[in-house]
Amino acid sequence: MQQLDNIKALRALLKSWRQAGDRIAFVPTMGDLHAGHLSLVKEARNRAERVVVSIFVNPLQFGENEDFDHYPRVPDSDSEKLESEGVDLLFSPTVSELYPNGQQSVTRVVVPVIGDMLCGASRPGHFSGVATVVSKLLNIVQPDSTLFGEKDFQQLLIIRKMAADLCFSSDIIGVPTCREADGLAMSSRNRYLSDTERKLAPALVRELSSVKELIESNPSADFSQLTQQAANNLNNMGFVTDYFEIRRATDLAKPGCDDRDLVVVVAAWLGKARLIDNIRVGVDE
Ligand code: PAJ
Repeated sequence: MQQLDNIKALRALLKSWRQAGDRIAFVPTMGDLHAGHLSLVKEARNRAERVVVSIFVNPLQFGENEDFDHYPRVPDSDSEKLESEGVDLLFSPTVSELYPNGQQSVTRVVVPVIGDMLCGASRPGHFSGVATVVSKLLNIVQPDSTLFGEKDFQQLLIIRKMAADLCFSSDIIGVPTCREADGLAMSSRNRYLSDTERKLAPALVRELSSVKELIESNPSADFSQLTQQAANNLNNMGFVTDYFEIRRATDLAKPGCDDRDLVVVVAAWLGKARLIDNIRVGVDE
């Protein structure tokens, strides 16, 4: 596995691969890699001759009081994992390589409406930071396909819309959520949970599953009553629920009576960790 932190050298190497006719699949990450990230890498391996992974903790997508400084950075164990997955190239630029003129005045990509709701409402500027760095990375790598986890469902839809609106040539591929044995969605932020909180955390996906089952058995159920009840259940257990909503799976708009392709989405604090998860409803599985 080659490792580069420099855009110019990366472009030269990728050009030679493209000239040899190799397809390139790309997995952008912030590192601290777990089996969820590696499932994206495995899917990338299936799709292309060359797999590129980036590790970059992107300051632009963290709010002022968020965990940018404390976000886990474990470069040695990350590169070992990527090496054993047969990754061809690891791109791990510094902040000044990606933002040479600072972050304040950098050109930003904004994806309106879908970027302003749910996590976008709770974390102002977050999705613009994500869209900006992903568009830079796509312009640098110019992959044939780029893989994102369905765990961050809103992020996936925002990147799809951005890629369509701005005519990026890469396919945007969604990969199913990897879960721990007890159902908790894998996440770098799970390490912020105490032992007691960790035992409680799978309640999040259990509430999602029970709302899914209730909708599937009674599609005309009162959605706001279902979600309010689920949020109350979580709050009574010790979560602080940010949102618990049933939305349209195509654009996260509030569903109308005829919408059948739905997703249940949740964000909730448990101690120091802000956990997010989602489950699809009404799709053939
Ligand atoms: P990060 O949180 O490191 O996640 C990198 C990719 O891994 C994302 O596409 C995310 O959805 C996926 N992922 C995380 N946990 C997963 C799980 N349990 N199962 C499947 N996929 C999972 O998301 C980001 O970084 C950043 O916002 C980024 C897109 C890299 C832009 O900075």
